[in-house]
Amino acid sequence: MNAIEIKNLSKQFGSKQAVCGLDMTVPMGAIYGFIGENGSGKSTTEKMICGLLPIGGGSIKLYGKDYTDESVRSKVGVLIESPGCFPGLTVWDNLMLQAANLSVPNAEQEVIKVLKTVRMEGAAGNKYKNCSLGMKQRVGIAMALLGNPKLLVLDEPLNGLDADGMRILREVFLDVVRDGTRTIVISSHLLGELQKVATHYGIIRHGRMIAEMTADELDASCRTYVALQSGDMDRTKQLLFGKFSRVETDAAGDLRVYDATTPEEIVTYLYENGICVTSIRTDKIGLEEYYIDLMKGGKG
Ligand SMILES: Nc1ncnc2c1ncn2[C@@H]1O[C@H](COP(=O)(O)OP(=O)(O)OP(=O)(O)O)[C@@H](O)[C@H]1O
Ligand SMILES: [Mg+2]
Repeated sequence: MNAIEIKNLSKQFGSKQAVCGLDMTVPMGAIYGFIGENGSGKSTTEKMICGLLPIGGGSIKLYGKDYTDESVRSKVGVLIESPGCFPGLTVWDNLMLQAANLSVPNAEQEVIKVLKTVRMEGAAGNKYKNCSLGMKQRVGIAMALLGNPKLLVLDEPLNGLDADGMRILREVFLDVVRDGTRTIVISSHLLGELQKVATHYGIIRHGRMIAEMTADELDASCRTYVALQSGDMDRTKQLLFGKFSRVETDAAGDLRVYDATTPEEIVTYLYENGICVTSIRTDKIGLEEYYIDLMKGGKG
């Protein structure tokens, strides 16, 4: 059974079609990276999944049941925009209040448990307003985890975090799904970060799902290339252009050769033409480049 199964979902705001005919499948246990440019309909879709917005058309099934079914609604934890925290109260009191709102049994133990999950045990006494952005995001995730939801929906949880904040959240996500009973949907523009944790991807454009794939499928469909540096990059570029059909300079200034080839072949060819290769490696394009290619209409 899938955690989420969406068919032909639509949503209109006045004359604006925010989501149109969207299909989405999120298997149980997945960390599903939900990707799309600004205004493509990610938050709107997530709000409908969480029951925060009524759907315009189509269907959303959560664990096989309609998204309005009470028995599945209580299994969804959500962090969209900022968590509804009281700034003057401590992290602990905010979580206890939320636990009371949700009638969570054994509230104290549960709050301790979620604080531990988000690595905030030591900061329970901090006032929410004095928390750093990274801590606030983690409090939001702790709030979403109260009531032990099977599905977590997080809208841009990595935004604005520094490298350490992102690393901690990645660990939190992996912990949350570790026993296989929980599923997370994460929308994010930080594709490099997403790629470190996501098991599945969905790419939305103009309110439609244009590609869904597993991390393995992405890996298999991403082209390999040989990246190199030499003592004379201009001459090297000329030589490679003459021999291989796709040669590009990447953001790091390396020359990339995309055709199926080996570093040995390139080194030999350049050596025969008087060029000494100073560094060479094979690699694959990542999610970010795949995504950009897809948006340009290429195949990734
Ligand atoms: N409440 C609303 N009223 C009117 N239009 C809305 C409303 N909410 C969203 N929209 C519009 O619907 C479209 C999709 O918005 P949405 O917020 O879902 O995109 P998004 O993919 O989350 O974008 P971002 O990456 O910027 O967060 C946008 O054109 C947006 O302006
Ligand atoms: Mg959004």
